[in-house]
This record gives sequence, C-alpha cells and structure tokens, in this order.
Amino acid sequence: MNNLTMDKIVNLCKNRGFVFPGSEIYGGFANTWDFGPVGVELKNNIKRAWWKRFVQEDPNTYGVDAAILMNPKVWEASGHVASFGDPKMDCKKCKQRFRADTLVENHSKGSVSAEAMSNEELESYIQTHHICCPHCGGFDWTAIRKFNPMFITSRGTLEADADKVYLRPETCQGEYVNFLNVQRTTRAKVPFAIAQIGKSFRNEITPGNFLFRTIEFEQMELQMFCKEDSSMNIYNQYKERALQFVKDLGLKEENLRFHDHDKLAHYAKAACDIQYNFPIGWQELNGIHHRSTWDLSRHQEFSGKNMQYVDPFTNEKYIPNVIEYSIGADRLTLALLCQAYDEESLENGETRVVMHFHPAIAPYKVCVLPLQKNLSEKAKEVYSLLSKEFMCDYDEAGSIGKRYRRQDEIGTPFCVTIDFDTLENNTVTIRERDSMEQIRLNINDLIDFISKKIKFN
Ligand code: GAP
Repeated sequence: MNNLTMDKIVNLCKNRGFVFPGSEIYGGFANTWDFGPVGVELKNNIKRAWWKRFVQEDPNTYGVDAAILMNPKVWEASGHVASFGDPKMDCKKCKQRFRADTLVENHSKGSVSAEAMSNEELESYIQTHHICCPHCGGFDWTAIRKFNPMFITSRGTLEADADKVYLRPETCQGEYVNFLNVQRTTRAKVPFAIAQIGKSFRNEITPGNFLFRTIEFEQMELQMFCKEDSSMNIYNQYKERALQFVKDLGLKEENLRFHDHDKLAHYAKAACDIQYNFPIGWQELNGIHHRSTWDLSRHQEFSGKNMQYVDPFTNEKYIPNVIEYSIGADRLTLALLCQAYDEESLENGETRVVMHFHPAIAPYKVCVLPLQKNLSEKAKEVYSLLSKEFMCDYDEAGSIGKRYRRQDEIGTPFCVTIDFDTLENNTVTIRERDSMEQIRLNINDLIDFISKKIKFN
C-alpha cells in the first residue's frame, strides 16, 4: 500500500494479537517485542517455509540447532571480542547516541555502503555532508568510539569468580564449529551447507523501527562450504535463490533490490544485501556473503583442530570457502506484514483492512463461523475436523460481516460458514479473503480444497 506508515503496522499488530511490546505491564522494555497468538503462527510459518526451501528440499544442506552459549574462545576466533564493534557517536547537544554507519547510510538513502568504512572515513563523510543529529537537529558530534554490542553474562554461581560468557550475536558460529561433526556423521561431500534457525542478541546502539532492529531476534542462517573454483558461482546462485524465496513468500519485485557492497571486509570476496522498501525506506533484509576461508581458518587457529576437508576421490586436503546466506526471521516478518497490509474502499463506502498474506504463511488457514449461535454444535464439529489438519480459528460473536472483517485483518484466507442448509445437506459456504467470493462445498471436500490452496512450493 502507498503511504504506509510503521505506526499503522504497529497498531494493527498490537490490536490484533500479532506483536505486543515486551514486558508491557511494567511499562515495557525498550526494543523487545513479544509475539502474540497470531504473530507466533505467522513467524513460525515463515521459519518453516525457509527450512522447507533451504533444508528439506536441498539434499546438500543439513540442519543443526547449536547452543546459544558457546565457549568464549569462539568469539575470539570470530573476531567479535577484539574488533566487532559498532562505531558510535554521541550528539553533544541532546546526548543521544547513534551509529555513525547508520547515519551515513540513512543520509545517503542506502546508496553508500558504510559497513566497511573506517572511522576516519565515516567522520569525514558526516562532516562533509553536514549530517545533523536525527533527534535534535544539532551538528555537534563526539569522535567515533567502538562499542561492543555483545551481551555478557557469567557462568559461575559467584559472579566475581565466574567466567565471562557471551550471548551469541549471530547463529552462524554454531554452524562453523560443527563443520567437522556434520561432515563426519553425514559423510557429506563438498559442496554442502549447514543451516540453523535461532536467537541472536545484540546490544544495538540504535535499535528501533519496531521489529526492524531489536536487541533479541531470530536469524535463519546457512553456510555453504565449497571449493574456491566454484565459490563465485555458488555465491551468485544464493543471491538468486534468496531473492526467489522472498518473492515466493509474497514480497513484490518492485519493493526488492540487490545492493552489492563496494567496500568489503579484508577477508571477503563479495557481499550483497537484498533490500526491501520498508515504510522507513530501502533497508537491508538479508545478506549473502562470500567469506573465503576466513571462518574455518580462524577456528583452526584458535581451537587447534584441523578443519581441513579431505576430498574422498583425489585425497586433496583444503579448507573450504564459505558462502553465507543470512536473514532475520523478525525482519522478514516485518517486511511481509508491510507488504500484506491493505486498505480497500468497498462499494458501500466502508474501508476494509486486509492482510494479503500468502496462504502458506497466514496465521490461521481457516475460521469456522456459525451463522447463528444455535448452529454452534455443528460448527464445533467442523472446527474439530479442520483443526486436525490446519491452524483454525473459531468465532461466533457479532454479525457475520464483522466476523469476516476480523479475519481479513489477520489475513485468514478462508472462512467457513455453517448455516441451516448445512444441517440439511452437509454443505457450507467458503469465503475467500482477497476476492470475497463465496462458494458452496460439501464438508467432506473441505480439507482437500483448503490443502491445495495453501501449498508453498
Ligand atoms: N552471520 C552474519 C550476520 O549476522 P548481519 O548482516 O549482521 O550478518 C544478518 O545479520 C541478518 O540478520 C540481517 O540481514 C537482518 O535480517 C538480521 N538482523 C541483524 N541484526 C538485527 C537486529 N538487531 N534486529 C533484527 N534483525 C537483525
């Protein structure tokens, strides 16, 4: 929808049970969000669709679910302890803190890739382009300082004696440290990938924009281990596969674009984001990175374990290159919420708010509605039948028109209405969300009809 604001999405989410502010009865806890009954279904369906596409349907990809708390040496090897740090700047006037790279990227509307810029380059850009404080409009910045966004906790019972432990800021290290285990137990041959979905935590300096940047979020990450000579091909394939996946889920082509990074980390051979046109502008949705042999070489160095792959045909030994594909489940959920939202003007002058989710990710696939309360016994029978197959809602409160509207607002693709004819001939009315068209079906045909319509390929 044109002119969609983030406020509209936040309000719908709060009022319809998609997402609530975290710890709300205590006044909230900034930049944490709780998924409600409708939101948890939506996000789970998105994660399932990702897993189906990239793990289930790919014979060369293996899933893991690694521990969030890892040996702290992992984070030394990954470079997070020493150098992973957001470049932060404070506005001297209003004392607000910002990420210098975000200031540059927002000012350039995403046309400048600030990720790989040095502090000096960032400071110089901010000065030359006279980038003011987004909060108070002042132009009086401190110098850039590094800020490590890893959350630290402790393992022992006495904090003073305890070892420092980090909450993982990305899931992919769980994939690297299990490279040998997965290869040994599956006898996978390069190229093969390890994937997982899990929580990550970052003490972000400038979180915000609802689910876009939070301090706790879920990532869906995949590391493809390959030989150097095929690595660029595989990188390009993942760019296309990642784009196709979000298009198939419902993001419109005109709201998607590749953003190739022109400045790269010293070990990287290529990097690209897919950007989505959020209500806050074009922003990163996911990343595809060619990480060379950096990750496995570092883990070899820090763990002392030989991370080489031995080619079973040639006996050649080498450390594989890594192509990474990483996407935030919450950020993708936000993009799909924005894409699905619509306000339609109806012939009777009313406005219908409708979420046009792909049926495969819609929170509920079907809602069962008795036309009148005295039909509820039959309606509950139908609910009981359908709920064994699909996530179903049940609603008998209010006029049928209002009940349809409530389902439109949470994106339910089908409403099944039980009326007096149902008692006579076992047929129901099934209403389709987008067209609002209604047809009559026998109850025995419902499961087959709905199953075909909600498939995600
Ligand atoms: N392992 C690579 C990695 O973590 P990243 O670009 O920092 O790369 C990958 O993150 C994806 O994770 C992003 O494209 C975004 O979808 C999601 N993401 C990162 N930080 C996030 C945050 N603070 N809140 C929500 N999603 C986030």
